[in-house]
Amino acid sequence: MQVKIRRIRYEDLDSIFKIIREVFPEDSILICRYISEIYSKICKYSLVACIDNNVVGFSISNLEYGRGHILYLAVDKKFQGCGIGSKLLCYTLLMFFNEYNVDEVFLEVQVNNHIAISLYSKYGFKIIRRIPRYYIDGSDCYVMSIDKNYFKNCIYDKCVEKISQL
Ligand SMILES: CC(C)(COP(=O)(O)OP(=O)(O)OC[C@H]1O[C@@H](n2cnc3c(N)ncnc32)[C@H](O)[C@@H]1OP(=O)(O)O)[C@@H](O)C(=O)NCCC(=O)NCCS
Repeated sequence: MQVKIRRIRYEDLDSIFKIIREVFPEDSILICRYISEIYSKICKYSLVACIDNNVVGFSISNLEYGRGHILYLAVDKKFQGCGIGSKLLCYTLLMFFNEYNVDEVFLEVQVNNHIAISLYSKYGFKIIRRIPRYYIDGSDCYVMSIDKNYFKNCIYDKCVEKISQL
């Protein structure tokens, strides 16, 4: 299975929205609308994963006050657990720290999303705070972040190795 990671294109949005409806069913309308609205800002920092030119995953990110912000990361259910989420995350970290030279990358994740928390922890993100009732359903989020020094000293090699796989 060859997974190619590239920058997002406008015509990828339909495939991305299909994945969003599948993985975030309750909030999908709001999320799709939000991504459409901010597309011109996020397109420089957002990536898709493709197999045979079909989009099977994505990371939607933005640059905010000099910090990388991962807004959404998701993989088509049929392809979860194959390393695609890790590969997208590694590309995103390399892009922000190497290409855009940011000091920090951060994200929010639902406190009960153990799979995502485990993925982010594996690539060096640490929980820095908990925000109560962050999501529409009233659930809390963790804010997780990784800084440039920790990335370069402890995670960079692992990311380079990961993106050479698949
Ligand atoms: C979170 C998500 C992006 C991970 O993508 P993925 O391609 O399935 O992840 P990978 O196969 O690269 O696995 C990465 C790590 O996640 C964890 N993980 C993945 N699947 C898991 C499972 N079924 N159970 C427990 N941990 C799991 C493991 O730590 C794994 O590392 P390992 O392979 O070294 O054990 C994907 O599950 C997804 O799209 N979830 C729905 C959307 C979502 O919750 N996004 C995050 C919040 S924005």
